[in-house]
Amino acid sequence: MKLTDDDRGILSGESGPGAQKAMEILLSLGRIFEAEKMIPIESAQIAGVSYLNIGDIGLEFLKDWADAGARVSIPSFMNPAGIDRRLWKKMGISDHFARQQMEIISTLHRMGIEETLTCTPYHIDHVPKNGDHLAWSESSAVSFANSALGARTNREGGPSALAAAIIGKTPFYGLHLFENRVATHRINVKCTVKTVEEYNLLGHTIGSKVGHAIPYIHGLELLIDSPHATSCLKSLGAAMAASGSIALYHIDGITPEAIEYGPDLSGDHMSEITITHLDESRHALQQSSTKLQLVTLGCPHASLDELKNYAHLLQDVRVKIPLWITTSAHVYQQAEENGLLDIIERSGALVIADTCMVVAPLKYLGYSYIAVDSAKAACYLPSHQDATTYFGSTEQCIKSAREGKWIS
Ligand code: F3S
Repeated sequence: MKLTDDDRGILSGESGPGAQKAMEILLSLGRIFEAEKMIPIESAQIAGVSYLNIGDIGLEFLKDWADAGARVSIPSFMNPAGIDRRLWKKMGISDHFARQQMEIISTLHRMGIEETLTCTPYHIDHVPKNGDHLAWSESSAVSFANSALGARTNREGGPSALAAAIIGKTPFYGLHLFENRVATHRINVKCTVKTVEEYNLLGHTIGSKVGHAIPYIHGLELLIDSPHATSCLKSLGAAMAASGSIALYHIDGITPEAIEYGPDLSGDHMSEITITHLDESRHALQQSSTKLQLVTLGCPHASLDELKNYAHLLQDVRVKIPLWITTSAHVYQQAEENGLLDIIERSGALVIADTCMVVAPLKYLGYSYIAVDSAKAACYLPSHQDATTYFGSTEQCIKSAREGKWIS
């Protein structure tokens, strides 16, 4: 891989051991994927923040790197942690877990990473532009940046995103290259897909069908730039990334690269999606039981518009079991200023920031029967939290929280 004089200097340790280690990681990655060179990036989004996921070994790894002088050189943001920094006691999280989690956050902060603690940085003014190169790591954020915004990022691991944040560059391979962004599959949607619930089911279906691929989807209609379109696209991408490992999709006439290049970008392998496929996905995400202990909404992290919708649905409602809505601290604050929190919390529901149902330690809090309105969360909760999980529309989830049992 061609390196600049500056890159070589960093590699030889001129900028300290922290930067040297970052350059070694990027160089190894570049060699594995036969990258010709490094390219500058605009931002990095760093996953592997939750203590539930990285544990003490991960914390020691980060502390060693920070102690070696590693500091980021570009705007860099943290993915959700395992706690809400204000409400962790109310959530029932132990002192030990919270202490270790806070140490992870402060170590990353010491390296210069913003405490955004969200998988939707594009809802808090960190919106990449079409064509920007990034090093993002949370799968739904990667999908949204690549697909809905036309930015370019591989699905980074936590350490490689952090190394890229420190150097401000990433190896030029994978989805950074236009030729690798051409779709492998052409998906014809033959049924009506309009609601966020249906976009979740469509994403789950496509991910299950094509696995690791790039779909070009025909047959969808969305009012681009509307809050509803944003919710649909983020849910679609999150679901595809969870049931498959899709980091980029195109939608004919809707996503930026599909608009620019049209069917030239479309893939060869044809598939049709019908209502039967969506029903099969719904069935795969269902349970026969009705026992319910917790309802969690806001995966990926809710936007202000989504919180408005939740507030609307919770107006004059009282829930019988815990209902958590997860978002970023930034959006939480906006919701507080707009009076939305009051409406939501009057129902007995809780808006939780900084964390989510998958990376908070729910399995240690005694929640084993959980309902969600996200196909991604429904995919991950059984394996990550050993939970029996129900997927349904937002309305169905809220109705179930009111009744204290799953209403199918
Ligand atoms: Fe975000 Fe957690 Fe869902 S990180 S995409 S809210 S699983």
